[in-house]
Amino acid sequence: MKAAYAEHFKVGVALPSAVFSGSDRLAAQLAKAQFNRITAENETKWKAVHDGPAFTFSVADGFVRFGRRNDMEIHGHTLVWHTDQPAWVFAGKGGAKATREELLGRLQQHIDKVAGRYEGKVAYWDVVNEALQDDGSMRSTEWFRIIGDDYIEHAFRMAAAAAPTAKLVYNDYNMWMPAKRDAAVALVKRLQDQGIRIDGVGMQGHYRTAGEPTIQQVEDAILAYKALGVEVLISELDVDPLPYAWDKLGADVGFNTELRAELDPYRDGFPPEAEEAHAQRYADLFRLFKKHSDVIGSVTFWGLSDDYSWLNTWPVPGRTNYPLLFDRHLRPKKAWYAIMAVARE
Ligand code: XIL
Repeated sequence: MKAAYAEHFKVGVALPSAVFSGSDRLAAQLAKAQFNRITAENETKWKAVHDGPAFTFSVADGFVRFGRRNDMEIHGHTLVWHTDQPAWVFAGKGGAKATREELLGRLQQHIDKVAGRYEGKVAYWDVVNEALQDDGSMRSTEWFRIIGDDYIEHAFRMAAAAAPTAKLVYNDYNMWMPAKRDAAVALVKRLQDQGIRIDGVGMQGHYRTAGEPTIQQVEDAILAYKALGVEVLISELDVDPLPYAWDKLGADVGFNTELRAELDPYRDGFPPEAEEAHAQRYADLFRLFKKHSDVIGSVTFWGLSDDYSWLNTWPVPGRTNYPLLFDRHLRPKKAWYAIMAVARE
């Protein structure tokens, strides 16, 4: 796949440590053969590189080593997020919350250490992940509540200083939704107007076989970001073929619901018609990505094979899901063949 798309964009994959650390050798071989870019699914997040306030880099170092050894572009995910930060990050003295100065100090130290350690090795950083809500307003996170909405400016300035050669990205889901898209455009402009470097916008791309977004909606968003002069990354692509478990689209990790049989219809296998529809959705998306490969630098899948997908546990724990290109035996699915056919069109 990486060769088929070489003239268009890089093709990436999010890997967990079981794959890049070598305990699942077959999966590692498949990742090397198919992809020329990697993201750590969790291992470069705040909670993974800290042991209390101290830093712990052995797993993240292994991820970066795997990418360098195999000549893969390395994507760092993520320096600021609303979740997965340990509680001490936001705690102040005597049971109070941290002050703005305390929290800015911790952010500075985190970004200096983490982005600084991999300067020259990690090619892209998601500096801020998921700061916006679907209606375009700012998500009320601890960062937002304690620092204020300029936490984003601070994070990008700090990242530019710590990692001068890395490309700096704002990343979010539902980036095609008009209200959120317009807010993301305004956010990028806000940084640009202040002379703060921002190089890319990451459209996560947690989509479904059926329903929204339409290809037109995704295209409108790509063009809106392109007009800002930044690169577009399709940063976390998966296509969920299971029934809707809730009334919202996207990937809000805070949402979870109980397992019910009707939400888990393919426990015994993926029926050919469902697999065909899933493959066609991927083909439609790749046709669009290929059309806009002047501005899209990479398309990264959120997982290697169906058994590794986070969608087996989110938003409903215990489902059997089929969102990716390789099955539970690492065999290519119809979606893989469909994407390869689009490359030849
Ligand atoms: C997910 C991982 O895949 C899971 O293993 C973890 O439990 C929660 O986070 N948006 C993001 C990613 O930016 O970091 C999330 O990854 C998926 C949604």
